[in-house]
Amino acid sequence: MLRRLHPDQPESFAFTSANQAWAEAQITKYPEGRQASAIILLLWRAQEQEGWLSRPAIEHVSEMLGLAFIRGLEVASFYFMFQLQPVGSVAHIQVCGTTSCMICGAEDLMAVCKEKIAARPHELSADGKFSWEEVECLGSCANAPMAQIGKDYYEDLTTDRMGEIIEELSAGRVPTPGPQNGRYASEPLSGLTSLTGYDSGKTQYNASVQLAKDIGDTVKRIDGTEVPLVTPWQDKAANASTKPPAKPKTRTAPSAPVTETKAEVAPAPASEDASRAKPKRGKTAPAEQTDAMKGENHAAGAAPKTDTPAEAPEDGTTGSGSKPVTLDAPRDARADDLKSIKGIGPKLEAMLHDSGIYHHDQIAAWTDAEVAWADQNLAGFKGRASRDGWVDQARKLAAGAESKDSTRAKKDGNHKE
Ligand code: FES
Repeated sequence: MLRRLHPDQPESFAFTSANQAWAEAQITKYPEGRQASAIILLLWRAQEQEGWLSRPAIEHVSEMLGLAFIRGLEVASFYFMFQLQPVGSVAHIQVCGTTSCMICGAEDLMAVCKEKIAARPHELSADGKFSWEEVECLGSCANAPMAQIGKDYYEDLTTDRMGEIIEELSAGRVPTPGPQNGRYASEPLSGLTSLTGYDSGKTQYNASVQLAKDIGDTVKRIDGTEVPLVTPWQDKAANASTKPPAKPKTRTAPSAPVTETKAEVAPAPASEDASRAKPKRGKTAPAEQTDAMKGENHAAGAAPKTDTPAEAPEDGTTGSGSKPVTLDAPRDARADDLKSIKGIGPKLEAMLHDSGIYHHDQIAAWTDAEVAWADQNLAGFKGRASRDGWVDQARKLAAGAESKDSTRAKKDGNHKE
């Protein structure tokens, strides 16, 4: 089936303050320059909060990670764990329809869903509480037929049990996930014939089900206040070492010139309701962004100077960074090929030229504050300068040695914008 954005989209998306703190903490788990790897976690939390992934939610997560929207959409539309349209307010039931489950009765389970929920997949039930769909193998073939509901697997299902589960969920209860026929995990139904000492020290349920029971968030919306913001085993480790939990690293806020309407965005609201109602962030048209980057003193003459936007402090800082030294024109009317730096393509090179940056040695001389400025002010490419290590690459290029990265960049054209 086609996985496309739903035609009806909300105006905006904002994490609740607790989920925002959680998301920022997750991002700190990744090495510098690899924060984009947190995308599945953040998209998943956005879905846990809202029930499905709207375009504004994907935009918000992409922006947090310094990614273009299309990169976020690629991930959200690829995995069917992400719902691109509204789902039942209580549960969305994903019935596995692949070989093992099909042989063991998946079609009968879907018939129950059609009867109790809606005739077609992705349709909401009359009370809006449920929706369902058929999905491909969920990797639990030894417990076929099965369905994923919320975050958990319900395995070894029968039509009767499927119907009961829907009834229980409808009544506000959360049925225990895992095998529904008395099995502990995927051992033979008649019991273990080997490794029988396995029983010693085991928990009431298998590890996956036990975790679901312990956390208790199987089908709930997650606003971040009802469940631990860290995973349970991390909690245990923290308690064992009596170490205070690590404080989430605060992400650098976008600097003023990038977002046209930033000044109009209200400060973080105190209540979660207010947080949800946060207005949609404005977008700055490329031309406006370029103007913001240019500053105001590109007067004639090739003498290097530091551009400082009128509203910036006297020290040349803009938000979290400091604008680097720029030129009005390339020296000897000949700019270096900035595209030889991995991560810089024609679009970014043009933006850098518009900002008065033409040479490898200019980038090579950037301080941390100036890298931060570039990270924040290259509209649409936030974090790119530090993530791709422009300064190190530029130093090698300025010294006349073509870095390995530039060689790779030439081959790897699809990494450039
Ligand atoms: S075939 Fe259904 S889980 Fe693999």
